[in-house]
This record gives sequence, C-alpha cells and structure tokens, in this order.
Amino acid sequence: MTRVLAPTAASLAEAARLLREGRLVAFPTETVYGLGADATSDEAVSAIYRAKGRPASNPLIVHVADADAAARLAVMDERAQRLAARFWPGPLTLVLPRRPDSGLSAALSAGLSSVALRVPAHKLAHALLGQAGLPVAAPSANPSGRISPTEARHVAADLGDAVAAVLDGGPCPVGVESTVIDLSRPGPALLLRPGGLPREEIEALTGPLALPDAAEAPRSPGQLASHYAPRLPVRLDATEPLPGEALLAFGPDVPAGAHATRNLSETGDPCEAARNLFRMLRELDESGATAIAVMPIPAHGLGEAIRDRLHRAAAPRG
Ligand code: TXA
Ligand code: MG
Repeated sequence: MTRVLAPTAASLAEAARLLREGRLVAFPTETVYGLGADATSDEAVSAIYRAKGRPASNPLIVHVADADAAARLAVMDERAQRLAARFWPGPLTLVLPRRPDSGLSAALSAGLSSVALRVPAHKLAHALLGQAGLPVAAPSANPSGRISPTEARHVAADLGDAVAAVLDGGPCPVGVESTVIDLSRPGPALLLRPGGLPREEIEALTGPLALPDAAEAPRSPGQLASHYAPRLPVRLDATEPLPGEALLAFGPDVPAGAHATRNLSETGDPCEAARNLFRMLRELDESGATAIAVMPIPAHGLGEAIRDRLHRAAAPRG
C-alpha cells in the first residue's frame, strides 16, 4: 500500500521533495484529489498515464501557484487575465495557447498546441506547489474512466503502490472537478466541462459561453461519453427504486424500498450534493445492489456538473 501522509509541515516537505525527484504524489484540491507529477519531466508525466491507464490522447491539467506562473507557461489574453483575476485560486481550468519556451513536457498535451492550467484554492495544494517550485501535472487520482476520489483513502484503495504518497487533506470541499473553459482559439469562450465553478458565475463576467461543436473532433479529449463509472449500471431520473436497486436520492421526499439509500442533499442544496456525489456513488456501488437508481437533479448552479457526471456514469461502457 502507498503511504497516506497526515498534513504536517514535514509531510509537505517530503511530498514536495518526491515531486522534485520525479515521483507521483496524490494531493487534495478543493475539487477532487489530484495525481501529481513534475510537469516538466517526460518520465514523470508518463508515469501518470501508466498509473491511471489513461489514453495518451487525453491531455493533463497543469497546476501552478498563481497567475504569474501561469503566464510564464501560456499566453494569457485580456479575457484569460480577467477570468484568472476573478476566479483564481479556484475550481476553474483555462485552456490556453502554450508558450513554445514553457519547458512543459510535450507528453502532457497529447499533441495539442494548447495547455490546460489551473490555480487550486486548497491550502495544502497551494503550499505543495509553492514548496515544489514546479508546475505540477495532475489529473484526478482515479483509474481512467472510474469515479474520482474525494478522500485520501479512495486514492490509496484505487491506485495503491503506483503512487509514492498521498497527502491527506480530508474530504474535498467542492467535490466535482474544475470547470474547463477553452480560450485557446479566437472566437467565443467554450465550456468544455461543467464543474466546480457554476456556469452562471462565469457568464456574469464573459457573457454566454459556447459549447464545443459536436461535429468537430472532441476539443476536450477527456470528455468521452463513458466516465466516472461505478461498477454497477446507473439509471437516471428514477422516481422510485426497482427491486434490488440502490437509490441515490436528492431532496426531502425519498421513496422507500431501495436496497440501500444515500441522500445527496435532504434540503436540495446543489453544493452539498456535489460534495457527497462521488463518495455516495462509491458506497452504493459496494452495497450489493443490482444497479444504482438516481433521482432527478435540477441543472442550476453545481447541478449542471452533477448531472454531467451522472450522465457519463450512466453512459454505455466502452
Ligand atoms: O478539478 C480538476 O480539474 C482535477 C483536479 C485534480 O485539479 N483534475 C482533473 O483532471 O479533473 P482530469 O485529467 O481528470 O481532467 C482534465 C480535463 C480532461 O477532460 C481533459 O481532456 C481536459 O481537461 N484537457 C486537458 N488539457 C486540455 C487541452 N489542452 N485542451 C482541451 N482539453 C484539455
Ligand atoms: Mg478525471
């Protein structure tokens, strides 16, 4: 088993040293746990792809300590600067034109001339980035296609020895991955992935976000239909459980009769639901049920990201 490190000054120093040595370190962010490695090292970046079983065609997000560090890696136009000033640190990832002299490993961009950058708000992530003194490539710390981890023990259970250490920061306060916005080409800002920063908050600054053209090659190669998948089949918009099904409920009125029940939020709060989503999916997946039935969830606020993850969890498996 990998080592789970309590969040002390000594563990932070050790985690930073491991990253500088090219090892893999999982760490908490406000969204989900990331599987981090030195973004300037081809070997370290390849180790991420191996540990996750991730297709080389799916590029990684690079985490940096602040917007100045981001501007050394990518070209930040006026729109990017405004978004960064308003929402970084926070659950927003910007896809930007990569600088030719960025020093980033080519392996992390899957052949694209752009790079995805994010400044996480979590205190431990921020401290780790500062001490490592490196840009840190970090996808979510789950095997490719499975449920993202929101607790250190999820990472230890899923990735085991593939990761040198897991920094334990407790449960992630947002619970769904960052919102990904593409600013790498002229034209309107594109919403590639709804996430921990609600679309409404971004649009208040940018005006309406466009969606990528489905006819075009996928702009965000990670947005394959099946993803975030538990082992059990998932059935959406259920009003009541079928015999043998577990129920992922939402709101105060919960039908009886499920094999096991978890309620994302009894009060119908999308933020609470996002925090609970991945842990509850894992729990129901292990409940011995035949399938997971999910009650309808409204699309406002973080509801958009929750619905996106649940649709992918329910999609036919590739
Ligand atoms: O909250 C998060 O974003 C977490 C934490 C750890 O920061 N990370 C995360 O990474 O969710 P990952 O690798 O699971 O998802 C990254 C997404 C994928 O959908 C990927 O295709 C997309 O970002 N992406 C990365 N680089 C891109 C690029 N240059 N162009 C378009 N999409 C990109
Ligand atoms: Mg992921």
